[in-house]
Amino acid sequence: MKTNQTNSSLQAPPLWQQLLGVHIILSQMQNGKPMSSSMELVSVHLRPGVQALSYAVLRHYASAQLAFRLLASRNPPKELANFLIISLALLIQDSKNRLTDQAHLQFYQTHTLVDQTIEALKRKAGPKAQTGFLNACLRSFLREESAIMHQINQDDSSIWNCPTWWIDRLQNDHPHQWQAILEQNQIKAPLTLRVNLKKTTLAQYKAQLEQHSIAFTQIGPIAIALADPLPVERIPGFMQGQVSVQDAGAQWAVDCLLDACTLTQDSIILDACAAPGGKTAHLLESSSAQVIAVEMDAQRAERIISTLSRLELSAKVMIADASYTKSWWSQANNEQQFDAILLDAPCSASGIVRRHPDILWQRREQDIASLVKQQAHLLKTLWPLLKEGGKLLYCTCSVFKAEGSDQIEQFLRKYKDAIYLSSPGHVMPKSLSVPQESKNTSESDIKIENLKYPPLDQDGFFYAILEKKSS
Ligand SMILES: C[S@@+](CC[C@H](N)C(=O)[O-])C[C@H]1O[C@@H](n2cnc3c(N)ncnc32)[C@H](O)[C@@H]1O
Repeated sequence: MKTNQTNSSLQAPPLWQQLLGVHIILSQMQNGKPMSSSMELVSVHLRPGVQALSYAVLRHYASAQLAFRLLASRNPPKELANFLIISLALLIQDSKNRLTDQAHLQFYQTHTLVDQTIEALKRKAGPKAQTGFLNACLRSFLREESAIMHQINQDDSSIWNCPTWWIDRLQNDHPHQWQAILEQNQIKAPLTLRVNLKKTTLAQYKAQLEQHSIAFTQIGPIAIALADPLPVERIPGFMQGQVSVQDAGAQWAVDCLLDACTLTQDSIILDACAAPGGKTAHLLESSSAQVIAVEMDAQRAERIISTLSRLELSAKVMIADASYTKSWWSQANNEQQFDAILLDAPCSASGIVRRHPDILWQRREQDIASLVKQQAHLLKTLWPLLKEGGKLLYCTCSVFKAEGSDQIEQFLRKYKDAIYLSSPGHVMPKSLSVPQESKNTSESDIKIENLKYPPLDQDGFFYAILEKKSS
């Protein structure tokens, strides 16, 4: 009896429950909410399944929207439309897997998916649920699958699973690399760790992973990509602060800044847009300087504090609009200028789509101009806070030039006391799972142990280091 109870509690929840969870994620995304925060609205026991299904849906979202337009004879209520989009995306994924001999990746049988989507709609909409409409559209898809897939394969937005304005912008910004960027956006990013050299050594940590039979690849000076993702509680040494989760490209920021500076324990670094604190912690792990972290979102600022406490590090964390310097500068540092500034500015996040596919559908074209304005304002207001001879690292996790090279060119035109130092500039997303010969970079045979830059697998970023001229 006891054994039966244990077995049943381990059983996966029914698919309709998970589809209801995916429906929440999709509706929230359409209202501009990121998946990372809307997942909190889903019951904990459903989250792993809902996350996997949501990723699958988001990676076929454009194709599902096209199929929806081809199949739906009328405009159904939003709730119903979203169930149709979810199931179409999953059917399209199966169809693509079959074509590429990956049928074994199918989550469930087709008829189960159709039945369970109808069940989920009934549970959500009650007796008035238009199950007949949903059933008819899904059956039509199955009947006309090859013709619909043919149309999907002709449509740019569906081919790249990307809004057309985004494709146009990439074509314009990176005429030789836009396809490679869009290809990378389809590939799931690995879970990457940053080893905390204040707590362990790289060799010791690698040995620890080996002892636990956890497969990994070292992809940067202190960056380790796990072959399979693990919940943080199961990552050896995570709770003890030996490692943090951080993309290898994101780790490059602190390397670039510290490499350009000569800092002592009396130096003060401003981390201007700091939450959730990945770079704040990396700065403290890699240098003896003091760090002041400023973040305007109080809830996100709490994450800096919890990260630092897990790592047993300390920084002055301030909740303020970094660009409104009057509100925090005197309290932070008695209006003394900083030796270095890290400005990880708010941006479109167009470089981290492989990790967060919801960004593609949450972001609107008109957001870019307003983000560019915010970034310019942060640069303008923080520049006077840097000492002469000090260095400022401007970075964004964006591959759009407006938020990277164009932004910095404009800044350099206005600020004659700013010198552009050798910097990585735009760094494109790049995956380890792409065969070496097809990578559009030349560093595939670099020796990792001696490597300072760049990583072997990374999200997309922009990095510029500016020095303030001495008068
Ligand atoms: C790209 S994230 C920073 C990531 C962080 N540096 C890390 O490595 O973990 C940008 C952060 O800037 C914050 N932010 C945006 N505008 C800000 C402002 N004017 N002042 C302070 N923080 C701001 C956002 O709330 C967000 O947490």
